[in-house]
Amino acid sequence: MEESRKIAVLTGATGGIGSVVCKYLADCCYTVYAACRNNKKAQSLLDTIPEDKRGYIEFIELDLTSLQSADEFCDTIICKLNGNKIDLLINNAGMIAKKFNITSDGYETSMQVNYISVKRITERLTPHISGKIINTVSCTIHSASLKRALKSATGGFETDGSDSKQSTLRSLSYYSDSKLMLALYTLDLSKRVSDTGLTVCGADPGIVDTGIITMHRWYDPIANLLFRPFIKSAEQGARPIINAIGHKVEGTREKGSALLFAGNSCKSFPRRIRNRYDRGLKLITPLP
Ligand SMILES: NC(=O)c1ccc[n+]([C@@H]2O[C@H](COP(=O)([O-])OP(=O)(O)OC[C@H]3O[C@@H](n4cnc5c(N)ncnc54)[C@H](OP(=O)(O)O)[C@@H]3O)[C@@H](O)[C@H]2O)c1
Repeated sequence: MEESRKIAVLTGATGGIGSVVCKYLADCCYTVYAACRNNKKAQSLLDTIPEDKRGYIEFIELDLTSLQSADEFCDTIICKLNGNKIDLLINNAGMIAKKFNITSDGYETSMQVNYISVKRITERLTPHISGKIINTVSCTIHSASLKRALKSATGGFETDGSDSKQSTLRSLSYYSDSKLMLALYTLDLSKRVSDTGLTVCGADPGIVDTGIITMHRWYDPIANLLFRPFIKSAEQGARPIINAIGHKVEGTREKGSALLFAGNSCKSFPRRIRNRYDRGLKLITPLP
């Protein structure tokens, strides 16, 4: 590892938005530990990176549907750090489960990939981070149900079979709930680490033309025709993450209160989400 380079950990590096962020980091003096679960995609990403920068990206296997894989991912990174600190953790990987499924750890798949395993990795790596943690959230948090999200995050689901019905709306509900939990966790962690000099923030890419928004349904081509021209490119979707990377915390005003980067702006999380955080904490402390 080159002394002068900073260290970044990036999940979802092989995805639409992650690839853009990964290239940016390699270009900006970071050594990147890039999580991947598909070697072919990792190779395709490397092929797009200038030869002199490729050596700064190291792929490490991670399957977020498994807590064991999350733990192994952290162990590998901690070992490679050799006592150095991580400057940047970007929790960018995410997915919308196309059908209801329970992981071997006992969680609904979207909830585990987008929140449970992300929280596990973040908690394990936090003592080794000296800079910033960026969590990729989504505007869908506004349509999530706090009650359902808290239940799902503790491994609960409806027993009358209603959870196993498949529909796009249900897939999106599970996704929104998991991203709401991630947003609440971002607020929670930011408060908890405020005295350590760590910064925790959220980044919302907007609606972006990547694989995640393909629902593999008959109406995809119609949705494509109607909406694709209006949605963002991966480069535009990566902008809030890149803005968050470069943002310098000003004074004590921002200490402990996570910022949300969206488009080209950066503000506090919306009041409605902060209120939900307060209500969530009353129900379960600390956040599951
Ligand atoms: N696109 C949008 O409209 C939008 C809107 C709001 C928020 N976001 C968020 O932005 C982030 C990036 O998404 P994207 O748009 O770039 O989508 P994407 O192209 O589908 O990329 C998702 C990334 O997450 C990885 N991933 C998915 N499931 C995983 C698992 N079980 N274990 C490990 N990695 C896994 C994927 O790995 P593979 O490469 O192996 O598939 C991929 O690298 C996500 O958190 C997403 O929720 C996206």
